[in-house]
Amino acid sequence: MSPAPPDWNHALRSARQLADLALDFDCAATMPLDPAARLAMAEAALVGVGNPSSTHGKGQAGRALVEWARRQLAEALGIAPRELALTSGATEANALAWRGALEPMLAAGRSPAVLTSVVEHASVRALTAEYRARGLPVVELAVDGRGCWLTDDLAGRLEGLDLGFASLILVNNETGVVHPVAQVAHAARTRGAIVHADATQALGRLAVEPATLGVDLLTLSGHKFGAPCGTGALWVRPGAKVYAIQPGHQELGLRGGTENVLGLVGLGAAAVTLGARLAQSPSVRALRDQLLAGLLALGAVRNADLPAEQESGHIANVSLPGLDAPRLVMALDLAGVAVSAGSACASGTLEPSHVVRSMFGTDTTGEARARGAVRWSLGPHHDRVAVERALAVTAEVVGRLRQGKATRH
Ligand SMILES: Cc1ncc(COP(=O)(O)O)c(C=O)c1O
Repeated sequence: MSPAPPDWNHALRSARQLADLALDFDCAATMPLDPAARLAMAEAALVGVGNPSSTHGKGQAGRALVEWARRQLAEALGIAPRELALTSGATEANALAWRGALEPMLAAGRSPAVLTSVVEHASVRALTAEYRARGLPVVELAVDGRGCWLTDDLAGRLEGLDLGFASLILVNNETGVVHPVAQVAHAARTRGAIVHADATQALGRLAVEPATLGVDLLTLSGHKFGAPCGTGALWVRPGAKVYAIQPGHQELGLRGGTENVLGLVGLGAAAVTLGARLAQSPSVRALRDQLLAGLLALGAVRNADLPAEQESGHIANVSLPGLDAPRLVMALDLAGVAVSAGSACASGTLEPSHVVRSMFGTDTTGEARARGAVRWSLGPHHDRVAVERALAVTAEVVGRLRQGKATRH
């Protein structure tokens, strides 16, 4: 075996130091790798398969692993394997859905309207901005103060429009709000639109059945349910008119390029755990409630305060009056607790996320609430002890911040 490349030990050590957070409450950003996925990937790496598109035996060994993964995911979703285009994640699947549906309409001289909402993931917000800039009319569902879509006047707003496409988030990644996708999808499909749902945060938390949701395209991401980062899929309803954005023979002809064989093996192995994850979601919710109660006792206010059936149960989005989210998130990180201000894609900026901002008014109180919003998210690996420890650390950090200091433990 050849020695490790020069910087590898250093890179691994610093990654370990940074990642070795005892208390990771940022599962909506990425879920820890499932042990089954870890093992399957390690075993597959030792086999040393070839390019799945090669016709020789080594290539076919790679093809067999990719197709195994596709079957596991299809089985977990109750669909046929040939309906899944495997991708590098949800961002790519979202782009494939949008471009795959809209570009042919544009090429045919249409200027179709798009229906979406103001609380979509950043990847969909970026696509919305792009197609709006290219001249397409966009109808956006606004939200109320609890993060729920306002749909009362939908029919009126769509009247007279040539609706071509709808893109709707099923479970919000910052608040956990479960949106009425089936209802809005029905309204859009009866007007002839291709309907896409982003179910990235829903898998393993809600029973997701693509075929009965009433949509044509469905996005999912592996690293939200125990697969490695950089894996995901777009489900394409048989007969849906979607075109390739990266031509190639792979992945239903929609997504050219050599498949990420090892990552997809991890995706397949994690897909097998989806049923168990769903079965554990009531206990994740109970832990989330325990965490929420503790945060409220520290003076926090809950954002998107909804009854259980309207939210996913894995997220607690709260604001602590007087404390800005970036400061709190950083102080908690120094104390060994990982949480986030907004989605992983929006963090790194000091701006409150567009989701919490859209829920609150632009007056001083609304702005302060949005600026303080912190997302805590949980998974099946958490237990009561972890929640108690996180709350104890948080109480101490909040106390210190309120007195104006923060130190590393
Ligand atoms: C709702 C939603 N859509 C899309 C994405 C992007 O997923 P990926 O990291 O797989 O590109 C995320 C990730 O946070 C998400 O929560």
